[in-house]
Amino acid sequence: MNTDATPLIDAARAVRLQAHAPFSRFLVGAALEAADGRVFTGCNVESATYGLTVCAERVAAFKAISEGCRSFTRIVIVADTQEPTPPCGACRQVLWELAGDLEVILVNLKAEKARHRLKALLPFPFDARML
Ligand code: THU
Repeated sequence: MNTDATPLIDAARAVRLQAHAPFSRFLVGAALEAADGRVFTGCNVESATYGLTVCAERVAAFKAISEGCRSFTRIVIVADTQEPTPPCGACRQVLWELAGDLEVILVNLKAEKARHRLKALLPFPFDARML
């Protein structure tokens, strides 16, 4: 794994500008790093129904899975906020199931704001082991 997160942060900031967020105007970018070094990006895609909106993190995760990738290391999430924007509960669940105990790096347009393990953001998760 490349420990310098700068390229991953740059990728997340770039894809954020692709966000389709005409309702909230809250643009989010995500860049999910695979164990083999590949990077899968995602932006939020909103629906006029509101409820069918998909967050940037899940777009990135689904793109990665659909490309056959199964092993991941880190995700960068970027929004234009002073305080770090954490992944929502639905994204925490999906990331846990598809990507495991990622390092979650939260950044804004200027700087890195926080780092967490996904396990710390989703303690006592439900997953396939319970089925
Ligand atoms: N959103 C994300 O894409 N990721 C997050 O981590 C938080 C929220 C999106 C969903 C919606 O399009 C907008 O931000 C406002 O909630």
